[in-house]
Amino acid sequence: MKSLLKIFTILPSKQYKMCSAILFAMLVGAILEAVGIGAILPLISIMGNEKILYENYELAENLSLIGITTHTEFIVMLSCGLIVLYLAKNLYIAWESYFQIHFAIKNQIYYSKELLAEYIRKPYLFHINHNTATLIRNVHSGSMVTFSLILIPTLQLITEVMTAFIIWLMLVIVDPFTAIIVAGVLSIIIIGISRFFRRKITNQGIIQNNYTAQYIKWLNQSLGAIKETKILHKEEFFLREFNNAYCHYGKANGKFNFFNQVPRTIIEACVVSGLLVLIIVKLILGNTPMDIVPLLGVLALAAFRLMPSANRIINYANLIKFQMPFFNELYPELYSIRRRVEKKSDGYITPPGKKLPYKDILCVEHVGFHYPDMEDDVLSDVTFNVPKGKFVGIVGPSGAGKTTFVDILLGLLEPTSGKITVDGIDIFSDIRAWQENLAYVPQSIYLIDGTIKENIALGVKSEDISDEQIKTVLRMAELYDYIMSLPEGMNTQVGERGVKLSGGQCQRIGIARALYQQPEVLILDEATSALDNETEKSITETILKLKGTITIVSIAHRVSTLEACDYKVKFQSGRVEII
Ligand SMILES: Nc1ncnc2c1ncn2[C@@H]1O[C@H](COP(=O)(O)OP(=O)(O)O)[C@@H](O)[C@H]1O
Ligand SMILES: [Mg+2]
Repeated sequence: MKSLLKIFTILPSKQYKMCSAILFAMLVGAILEAVGIGAILPLISIMGNEKILYENYELAENLSLIGITTHTEFIVMLSCGLIVLYLAKNLYIAWESYFQIHFAIKNQIYYSKELLAEYIRKPYLFHINHNTATLIRNVHSGSMVTFSLILIPTLQLITEVMTAFIIWLMLVIVDPFTAIIVAGVLSIIIIGISRFFRRKITNQGIIQNNYTAQYIKWLNQSLGAIKETKILHKEEFFLREFNNAYCHYGKANGKFNFFNQVPRTIIEACVVSGLLVLIIVKLILGNTPMDIVPLLGVLALAAFRLMPSANRIINYANLIKFQMPFFNELYPELYSIRRRVEKKSDGYITPPGKKLPYKDILCVEHVGFHYPDMEDDVLSDVTFNVPKGKFVGIVGPSGAGKTTFVDILLGLLEPTSGKITVDGIDIFSDIRAWQENLAYVPQSIYLIDGTIKENIALGVKSEDISDEQIKTVLRMAELYDYIMSLPEGMNTQVGERGVKLSGGQCQRIGIARALYQQPEVLILDEATSALDNETEKSITETILKLKGTITIVSIAHRVSTLEACDYKVKFQSGRVEII
């Protein structure tokens, strides 16, 4: 019950109103359904009673006023009335479904984007510690599950309970004693079945949730490492791992579907045998069959009307239970979306503010860092200065903490001790303002599946891209001649992750991308190590020409790359030495 209400805690107040409207519409729909079934019965009894107009004088009188005098005419009139009722009812039901689906889909679209927004805005450390498969699963199906498989079934469950209650009230009016017996028996069945299956269904929910992320992970990995897979002939391995995860996922779903079918059979078996046992007992007690018929009629009607209701109540409750583990995992993000909606803020996007002015000096002061869950410090007491316009080279063996340091300088990781200041101001006091100065070239460039131009001016709309500036940076990155020799020039598609380009060309696009932003500070993390000596040299020369106007911090694998830098900082076991 508590978990049932939890779904409503993620909804902003506007959505509450929508939910109440849907609930009301559902209830009206349920009543119309009941009326629809109920209306057939009088028609049948009137059809069977030819003398009705003779027996009921008042009715005949009223009917004759509208020109109906025979039994057949009366039936025709009632049939026409029923046709109108059914058309209206079904029109309403169609509208109600549209209303419901529209609500679910609208939210599904909105929440998918907002979930992605939640993840994008999470600190870099969060992303280091989470496999993208889990995040892909959440964005892909989180909002669908939340709205279509939890919220709507919750409303349906509430409607069903209310409808069952109304039918039961009708029964109370007809025969209170039977009504109480029926309510008692059905409640015991519903509670019994729910309790029996609760844990089993939750467990299958947990399994399906975990293994969805697992199979997406193996799918990503097997297609992501396609080259290695083919060369090393590891197809079997990837297929096996994928299959293993998918099997668990599929079996959990299968078990859930089975558990969801079982209640119907149990309810039917219990109710029918209950009725038959009642007959036997009555007969043994000396009642004649004719005595039992009237009671049995009411009982059977009630049971057969309430049985499908009881079944649906269990099914909705099971569905919600099955999806609950997934929902619980998403809950913090969904709740945070609600808070943002209520504050009417796009909190995940820090508005582009003003730049943190860097006029004089950047000071790295006693910076220390360790990754969470790791005992040893990766950096300890790192201290050095970078005067504006200088070219600082960073060297050191692999694993020395160079990339970690650069991630801190970029504002992706926060130091666990010490600070970095720019003209006396801590960069972490407004990290976005500091980042406005930066451009970064990582060791391996991530290219989007688009054109060269779109990759260089990443995130800029096509019509706003300056071709002139693209040409300038292509020249600086030693790519101009090659790109211009291609039939489609800078509009050439690079393929997913740049598969249609060489590693060196990808890297040079990364450099062009950084230069396109005309940064104040250029940070390179082994940006040229994938290039051949000649290209590396000429790019380094281009970068050197920028020295003086912009500040450069460059990690280099080959010390020769850093010959012309102003000074070098050597990282060794997390400490630094200026050379
Ligand atoms: N996400 C992480 N979690 C835990 N340890 C990490 C993580 N990333 C890097 N490390 C560790 O930090 C140390 C420094 O790594 P890194 O900064 O990448 O070195 P470098 O760039 O100098 O080769 C290494 O020992 C590495 O194992
Ligand atoms: Mg590194």
